[in-house]
Amino acid sequence: MLTIVNHPLIEVKLNIMRDQETKSKEFRENLDEIASLMCFEVFKDLKTHNETTNIMTPTGISLPRKRLDYKIILAPILRAGIGMCDGIKNMIPTARIGHIGMYRDEKTLKPIEYYFKLPKVENPLVVVVDPMLATGGSAIAAINAVKTRGYQNVRLMCLVGAPIGVDAVEKAFPDVPIYLASLDQRLNEKGYIIPGLGDAGDRIFGTK
Ligand code: PRP
Ligand code: URA
Repeated sequence: MLTIVNHPLIEVKLNIMRDQETKSKEFRENLDEIASLMCFEVFKDLKTHNETTNIMTPTGISLPRKRLDYKIILAPILRAGIGMCDGIKNMIPTARIGHIGMYRDEKTLKPIEYYFKLPKVENPLVVVVDPMLATGGSAIAAINAVKTRGYQNVRLMCLVGAPIGVDAVEKAFPDVPIYLASLDQRLNEKGYIIPGLGDAGDRIFGTK
């Protein structure tokens, strides 16, 4: 199930990120901010519960302490997924962070896993995070890696996606909700999203 998170603030910030003149600092800042804004949609169906302890308001009213039912685990796909984590952590400070090391072979475009570590918590909701959903190969391999380690409640949160990548993830994991800020047009012959925003990892970390 695909949700495009539409909001004028996201539209304007994503447009800044698409501009080839935008430097790493501004690129990262806008990515952070969009990731924060997307949280409103990605987590809007989460249930909360009352803890046994109470809070006291400055007006002298005792209220039950609220907690999310799920323990959120962010699972960024290295490297570029890291660029979305601070923005999400700003909204969910209690979120734990794992890491999924994966890169696309430049010729075959097939993902290669080189690292995997996720925290173990009760009642986890794992959000696989990566700005780019191109062929879908990295996201599918990452979700597969997460599920085979026993985490079944999984969501995929990306910035920009290509239709072919969305279709591939939906086919592989019909139970995993996908969230995008934009569904772009297509992939080019090198597997880059068009119009897209170029190589997200390079632009986040200034490696080009
Ligand atoms: C990019 C991006 C995704 C992947 C998307 O990572 O961050 O992980 O490509 O492509 P796919 O949907 O076709 O798999 P890349 O492999 O360039 O690694 P990096 O983040 O280290 O730059
Ligand atoms: N990875 C990127 O960083 N950008 C794309 O457009 C596709 C894959």
